[in-house]
Amino acid sequence: MALPNNQEDSAATGLVIFGVTGDLAHRKLVPALYQLELDNHLPENFHIIGFARREWNDDKLRSEMEAAVREFARSQPVDEKALQRVLNRMHYLVSNFTEVSGYRELAKQLDKLEAKNRLYYLATPPDAYTAIIGNLGKADLGKNSEGWTRIVVEKPYGRDLESAKQLEAEIHLVFNEDQIYRIDHYLGKETVQNILVFRFANGIFEPLWNRRYVECVQITVAETIGVNGRTEYFDSAGVIRDMLQNHILQLLTLTAMEAPVAFSADAVRDEKVKVLRSLHPLRGEHAIRNTLRAQYSAGSQNGDSIRAYLDHEGVAKKSTTETLLAMRIGIDNWRWAGVPFFIRSGKHMPKRMTEIAVQYKQTPLALFGARNMAGDAPNRLLLNIQPEEGITLTFGAKAPGPENTIQSVQMDFSYAETFGASSPEAYERLLMDCMNGDATLFTRSDEVLAAWSFVDDILKAWAQHPVKKLPQYKPGTWGPPEIDEFMHGHGSIWHTH
Ligand code: BG6
Repeated sequence: MALPNNQEDSAATGLVIFGVTGDLAHRKLVPALYQLELDNHLPENFHIIGFARREWNDDKLRSEMEAAVREFARSQPVDEKALQRVLNRMHYLVSNFTEVSGYRELAKQLDKLEAKNRLYYLATPPDAYTAIIGNLGKADLGKNSEGWTRIVVEKPYGRDLESAKQLEAEIHLVFNEDQIYRIDHYLGKETVQNILVFRFANGIFEPLWNRRYVECVQITVAETIGVNGRTEYFDSAGVIRDMLQNHILQLLTLTAMEAPVAFSADAVRDEKVKVLRSLHPLRGEHAIRNTLRAQYSAGSQNGDSIRAYLDHEGVAKKSTTETLLAMRIGIDNWRWAGVPFFIRSGKHMPKRMTEIAVQYKQTPLALFGARNMAGDAPNRLLLNIQPEEGITLTFGAKAPGPENTIQSVQMDFSYAETFGASSPEAYERLLMDCMNGDATLFTRSDEVLAAWSFVDDILKAWAQHPVKKLPQYKPGTWGPPEIDEFMHGHGSIWHTH
């Protein structure tokens, strides 16, 4: 994965953040850059150019970013010297995304800074991507004979298969595949990377990781937040585009993939693509039976009163966009045929929690009597991705006493207890990886298209079978009654805490 920072490469590096005035730069990118500066991970000769439409200048950019770092930096209180160093590296360029003159000016600035290595970060709304990519091409900024040139593209990468293909065609006119870093911040999370370490650096789990032993896998990505402030985007996306097409399918591929032949960007991604291509297509009635959508209604959560999804400004009056999605996914390959992967993701759920639960099959005989089986299925391996990062194995143990009473007990590993310090933020790792030219944690062209191809079938099926209204659930609950009925219909129950 990440190579150590290449200190021998003394050429200056220029990071250009398109849309630097936006939320992503404030909350994630600049605080991550500050942390990298603090930890001595930035190249010595490093410049940040903020490129955006607002009439800001260097001073304004620096004061905005100073406030952002103070508010969002992972290590608090901030180190004043490191903060100053990172602010001093910042420059601002005001320009429209559609005018090539701004990009010519950018080329001049990069030359002036002698930035031979160039990293462009698209942190703008996706409707600006095409213009930016095209203009980078026109200003001859896509290639560079003296150093490297790379581009980071944020999600959403298209809104369906067709538009993703379109974006692919446009980006490949200017950049080669090995210059393109499609970001999915879930891959930057330590615990997500640990899925592979857990599976492939240990000999004891992998033999049990298949259809012979696994009953089902449940992936839950629950959030307590709603869609405030981004209703228009969300109403055109829903959980399926916002979470499933990217983050959740990434979790699924890492859980289901075969061991790669090497731990290199292409070998890892080859295996992930195979999983995506083996997903049993969800089309027509089959898609309707295997998906469940719902929306949150009005209510209260943690003392705050919550407006119904349909009452938000920016949400269509009769919107059938889901704020909660459950799904049963099948994988048609030798390892997983017949093992359901249940997915559940929603806004305004009782707690923030991302986990992967691997539910093992029962023993062949109930030797100790059915009532003594420590619950319906005592063996479960839980990968806690966030916020309580760790791994828990549940099994049955004999409770002390003259009778064979079996109790469900747990073996726990906690990141916080074992490793103490707070884990790096996803963006720290990902920014460093693209500067080091390591694309392992970024999605490849064929991967993103395979994910869209699966999602596209479902979107089509939903469009072919329109509903007037989605089931409603109260904020702070695990969904409407239908979500449990959905699971019962598939012969299972949701894992709860
Ligand atoms: C983003 C989605 O990609 O991921 C958001 O657009 C979601 O809707 C967020 O809230 C979740 O990320 P995390 O890191 O907080 O789990």
